[in-house]
Amino acid sequence: MKIALGCDHGGYELKQFIMKTLEKLGYEYEDFGCYSLESCDYPDIAHDVAQAVEKENGTGILLCGTGIGMSMAANHHKGIRAALCTTELHAKFARRHNDANILCLGARMTGVELAKAI
Ligand code: RB5
Repeated sequence: MKIALGCDHGGYELKQFIMKTLEKLGYEYEDFGCYSLESCDYPDIAHDVAQAVEKENGTGILLCGTGIGMSMAANHHKGIRAALCTTELHAKFARRHNDANILCLGARMTGVELAKAI
């Protein structure tokens, strides 16, 4: 099953790194945008990714500057449990205790190596 990926301009660069990392690890993904550093509205992307995750009963990753806007928007969807994670422990427990199906990352808060670990 493909991981649904999305970002706004604030998360664009980290998403490029995440895509390369997923490829190296052998995970398939579908990229729902955005596709450049041009300013865009994060809820549009969050809703597209959330709908795909709901439809496929899958998982997703959303990135914006802080991760806050993406998690708020995605969590409007009934079948979505989006978790903004800033540590590996958050990520571990978001899966183990909360059955999170979307990981949100704040690209202006979280460096690439920490994002990879998360
Ligand atoms: C965009 O500048 C920024 O507001 C957005 O990426 C995000 O941090 C919102 O939560």
